[in-house]
Order: sequence, then structure tokens, then C-alpha cells
Amino acid sequence: MLLELNLQEFLQQHKQIIEDFLVRLLPHQTSQSLYAAMQYSVLNNGKRLRPALVYATGKVLDTPVDKLNAAAAAVELVHCYSLVHDDLPAMDDDDLRRGMPSCHKAFGEATAILTGDALQSMAFEVLSDPELNPLAVSLQIEMIQVLSKAIGSRGMVLGQAQDMAAENQAINLESLIQLHKYKTGCLFNACIELALIASEHNNKAVVREALLDYGTNIGLAFQIQDDILDATSDDFTLGKPAGSDIAAGKSTFTTLLGVDGAREYAALALQQAIDALSPLGYKANILSDLAMHLINRTS
Ligand code: IPE
Ligand code: IPE
Ligand code: MG
Ligand code: MG
Ligand code: MG
Repeated sequence: MLLELNLQEFLQQHKQIIEDFLVRLLPHQTSQSLYAAMQYSVLNNGKRLRPALVYATGKVLDTPVDKLNAAAAAVELVHCYSLVHDDLPAMDDDDLRRGMPSCHKAFGEATAILTGDALQSMAFEVLSDPELNPLAVSLQIEMIQVLSKAIGSRGMVLGQAQDMAAENQAINLESLIQLHKYKTGCLFNACIELALIASEHNNKAVVREALLDYGTNIGLAFQIQDDILDATSDDFTLGKPAGSDIAAGKSTFTTLLGVDGAREYAALALQQAIDALSPLGYKANILSDLAMHLINRTS
């Protein structure tokens, strides 16, 4: 209970830090509809869980916050871009996001496509800016490589492509796990890898392996919980359309295993994530608390 309280404080504090940082980054002139749409799609009550993962991993690795801000912003910018594109009529065709009309509903499809494009490139601009990312150039380049690989055609975008291809198709559990690992897990793992780079690799291989194993499992559990919430919650609580997966004929953990089966699988992945942290001892408590928070979330 005490730990959960500490986690809540940590999440609130770092939500503020990342939101202040994002406000500074985004272009301000709202007379340009592209800029208005970028602000609308980023500064809109996201849970900021990926930045929280960067900061929590950095805390475990004793890395100061000013060396983590750029990485935290980059992953959130990429995430926001992915949501704007994910909601487009050509993809999930969802009209509600974070409790507001989706970007294309508010600004039109062309602006929504461009908003996603601009947010994605801004992520790499931030990582390569010496004032925003005060790390050696070699570390900045490593960060750019890690993030670009995680979100491209061998990572998140591949997962999104597989997700679209699987609509109205029967796919097996193994394929679905792989799809989820790509579309959601790769960005979660990138959060951890970026924090490892920000710590200037000042840690042993066993720590790195433990953290990446943890990341893989929480990414999967996180997406399973997203599937469960789609099937069991409501628009108001989620801030996005519930039942969207079934309406679109998506293959999800709940369509394959049922809600109870999906819950069991998420609990298994959560346990594996927590077990993976054992070489790090009590220092990693914040990450096990975060894992439980990710899986027990209701929105
Ligand atoms: C939603 O992510 C998209 C998925 C990968 C499941 P979040 O649930 O983290 O969404 P926000 O950022 O809080 O809106
Ligand atoms: C989105 O998955 C994953 C990415 C955007 C990369 P979903 O389509 O399940 O996310 P929601 O449910 O719309 O937030
Ligand atoms: Mg989708
Ligand atoms: Mg979607
Ligand atoms: Mg979903």
C-alpha cells in the first residue's frame, strides 16, 4: 500500500515534468492548424505511461532526470503520433481519443496524417538536440538508432501492419503474441533501452538483460489489458470507443481466449515481468509497482 502511494506520487510528479517539457517543445502558433492539431494530440490528458517507464528505469539506474527528459519526450511524441494514425478511417476508424474527438475528427484527415508525421520527426529532433538531450553525441546517435528501429518496419509499424492484415481473419495465439510484441512491446522496450543509454551504459549485462526481459513482458501484458478493457469497459471510462476491436473484426486476446483467459495470460506476463527483476533486488521495486499499475489500470 505504501509502495503504491509512492508510485502514485512518482507518476504525478513525472507527469508534470514531461508535460512541462512537451509544452516547451511544441510549436505554439495555433493559427497554423498543423500546430494546433499537434498540441491537441499531445497535450490532452494521456496517461504518460511510457515516459513514466523511462523515468522509473532511469531512477533504478541512478540517472538524473535532465538526462532522461528527451528520451521521455521522444517516446511520448512517437506514441501520440501512433494514436493519431491508428484512429484514422483507413486504420481503426475511431472517433474518440483521450475523451475528445480524434485528431482527424477535429482537424480533418489530411491534417491528422501530417500531425502524425510531424510528431514522429519531432521525436528525433529532440533526441539530437544538445540542449534538450545533454548526452555525448555517440549516445544521442544510439538513442536515435534504438527508437527508429523499435518503431519502424521491424517494430511498431510492422505490428500495426499485422494488426490490419489480421482483421476478420482467424490467427493463432502465437501470431497474436508476436503482433502485440511488435505493435506495443517494441516501444515499451525502447523506453528501457533509452534509459539504459541515458545511464551511459553504467551497468552490468545482467541488469540490462533483466530490464529488457521485464520490458518485453510488461509490453505484452499492457496490450492484453488494453484488449480486455476494449471488451469490458465503456467509452466514458476509456476516453476512446469501447468495443472498437469487435466492431472492426480485430483478433485480440479476448477474441482468442475470452476475457478470463486473457486475464490469466496478462497475470502470467505480469508475474514474469516481476520475476525478471529479481537480480536487481529491492532497488527495482518501483518497476514492479509500475508493472502492477499498468496491468490493473481501468483506462
Ligand atoms: C493506448 O495506449 C494504445 C496502446 C498501445 C494500447 P495508452 O493506454 O497508454 O494511451 P494514453 O497515452 O493513455 O492515451
Ligand atoms: C494501438 O493499438 C497500437 C499503436 C497505436 C501502435 P490499439 O489500436 O489497440 O490502441 P487503441 O485501443 O486504439 O488505443
Ligand atoms: Mg489499432
Ligand atoms: Mg486503435
Ligand atoms: Mg486497443
